[in-house]
Amino acid sequence: MSGDVQRSIIAANWKMHLTAREAVRYVETLLPLVKGLDAVEIVLAPPATALDRVGQALAGSTLQLAGQNVSAEDEGAFTGEIAAPMLADLGCRYAIVGHSERRTLYGETSEVVARKAAAALRNDLRPIVCVGETLEQREMGQTREIVGEQLATSLELVPDERACDLVVAYEPIWAIGTGRTATPAEAQAVHELIRENLEARFGAAGRRIRLQYGGSVKPENATALMAQNDIDGALVGGASLDPTSFATIVRCAAG
Ligand code: PGA
Repeated sequence: MSGDVQRSIIAANWKMHLTAREAVRYVETLLPLVKGLDAVEIVLAPPATALDRVGQALAGSTLQLAGQNVSAEDEGAFTGEIAAPMLADLGCRYAIVGHSERRTLYGETSEVVARKAAAALRNDLRPIVCVGETLEQREMGQTREIVGEQLATSLELVPDERACDLVVAYEPIWAIGTGRTATPAEAQAVHELIRENLEARFGAAGRRIRLQYGGSVKPENATALMAQNDIDGALVGGASLDPTSFATIVRCAAG
């Protein structure tokens, strides 16, 4: 982690797993395991149906709550959508936007991601903006160009003075849920590129934006990934579903 940035940040993206009841049991198991690990900001992104109960279970702890997605609109006739003020009302502090599953399975473009990030920011939520290339793009040597484009467009509507509220997650699509992690050096190379992009866009504030790596992060590889200069945290999918392995990843980040 580079000297300029804020506290490292480890987020659990549960995706479409755990009922509200299961989620509460998870939190009860997790809290004692991460007690005192204040060097790391811990964020849980349960499914929307569990946000309220998880928020209640986290009361009195330093763990933060996140939505896995957020509407670009603040209210209106948008069946099935969840607005940023609704997430904020449940105690969310973060919202994941532009996850590759949203981009590839639900057709979210970087333009849409930009509007979602803006909606989050205007409602006091910090967006965790995900970017990442496919295996084909990587093999064709397009990583720099694809990630650069995703960043430029997805962050287009972020006011300069809100740069410090951003988190950017680099999630190579070929590493998500596949068990195939980017090597620490591969991840660092793209994180460095992202850092340069953010600095070009936001100036010195860009250096302080926290960069998470995501894609098959596990207890076995977390320490090596977190040791990289431009990796300030992780967005964890599969391994976050087990509170013990998630707590181990948090401990790796705490050093
Ligand atoms: P994974 O998912 O850890 O299961 O690869 C990461 C993510 O999609 O955020």
